[in-house]
Amino acid sequence: MEKESIRHDIMNILSSPSLKKEDIVPILKMDSKEEMDTLQSLAMEAKRENVGRVVYFRGLVEFSNVCRKNCFYCGLRKGNKAVNRFRLHEEEILSAAAFAHENRYGSLVLQSGENQSEEYIDFVCKVVRRIKSRYDLGITLSCGEQSEDTYRRFFESGAHRYLLRVETSSPELYGKWHPSDGKHRFETRLDCLRSLKDIGFQIGSGSMVGVPYQTYGDIAGDILFLRNMEADMMGIGPFIEHSGTPFYRSEAYSIPQEERLNVTLRTIALLRILLKDVNIAATTAMQALDKFGREKGLMFGANVIMPNLTPAIRRKDYLLYENKPCLDEDASQCNNCLEARIACVGDAIGYGKWGDPPHFFRRVNSPSFWL
Ligand code: 5AD
Ligand code: SF4
Ligand code: FES
Repeated sequence: MEKESIRHDIMNILSSPSLKKEDIVPILKMDSKEEMDTLQSLAMEAKRENVGRVVYFRGLVEFSNVCRKNCFYCGLRKGNKAVNRFRLHEEEILSAAAFAHENRYGSLVLQSGENQSEEYIDFVCKVVRRIKSRYDLGITLSCGEQSEDTYRRFFESGAHRYLLRVETSSPELYGKWHPSDGKHRFETRLDCLRSLKDIGFQIGSGSMVGVPYQTYGDIAGDILFLRNMEADMMGIGPFIEHSGTPFYRSEAYSIPQEERLNVTLRTIALLRILLKDVNIAATTAMQALDKFGREKGLMFGANVIMPNLTPAIRRKDYLLYENKPCLDEDASQCNNCLEARIACVGDAIGYGKWGDPPHFFRRVNSPSFWL
């Protein structure tokens, strides 16, 4: 088929006011070169028009791998006794913040496994306050499910963005990916997202692609979920196996494993075309599957990259999945590497800017009920 008619078909489907999962599935399956090229150029146009061809860096500090949860897909799950558990000292986090500031990254992401102890919560609040008192950095937290009161304390300490992936928008699938022990509830996840939104955070969410039992229809559902909940930031990444988890060597795949990266790219493109002015990350997991995974993400509409600032000696202990890139590099090596890679794509780097998603400001100016 001609590119012009593919383009016409895609835009026809996506502009329907009653867009449904079944309408999106055929686009998620478009695998010919012409179809991929067309999706890519539509996504690039939407990126240029809505957020510009600028990539923002968020320095990622993985500050603790202690986790109370047992997600079936993740290498940091509590049941994986082979993990060497650590928590960074405050000084280590502050030096990562200093690096981000010196290299003119606008923002920092502090991520850890899920821990609800008072000591941990106090630590996070204290570190956020220290960083804010020293540097003009935007701070994103990615610290899992917490009480509304804790989220409020995080916000009052100076964090203004929060990442909490829904993982999947299907309650049934959520049940298959997590133990049914009362600690892994889909409803809790939705409640957390609602609290974060009420408190005033910029909200990041997202899902994985190619996890056992997941279908194309489920991914189409994730896209609609992210649109309906009005998320401001998206993190979408391919699932990658880890030998210390129950999902290692699963036979329950309905999306072929060799398709994971391409389906992730098509998902990113659809999010960019449909949701327009959100921030979308080109995730590290894409890089784990393909040498040019993140560059491809940028070419399909992503506009955020999270250079790893975790001290090099700790990186090998923060393996959500295996084959994670950059385990032997340090922050300045990754910095130089990424600058070169982004130059190849042809985007500019938004040095020294927080790079908030325009979507957030549009949303808070027209509050509407969600979910
Ligand atoms: N492969 C890819 N992504 C994973 N995550 C957890 N485990 C894996 C895996 N095996 C993702 C989850 C989580 C984020 C921090 O990492 O989506 O929200
Ligand atoms: Fe813990 Fe997050 Fe991994 Fe689940 S995905 S086991 S909550 S670190
Ligand atoms: Fe770390 Fe390329 S981003 S070495």
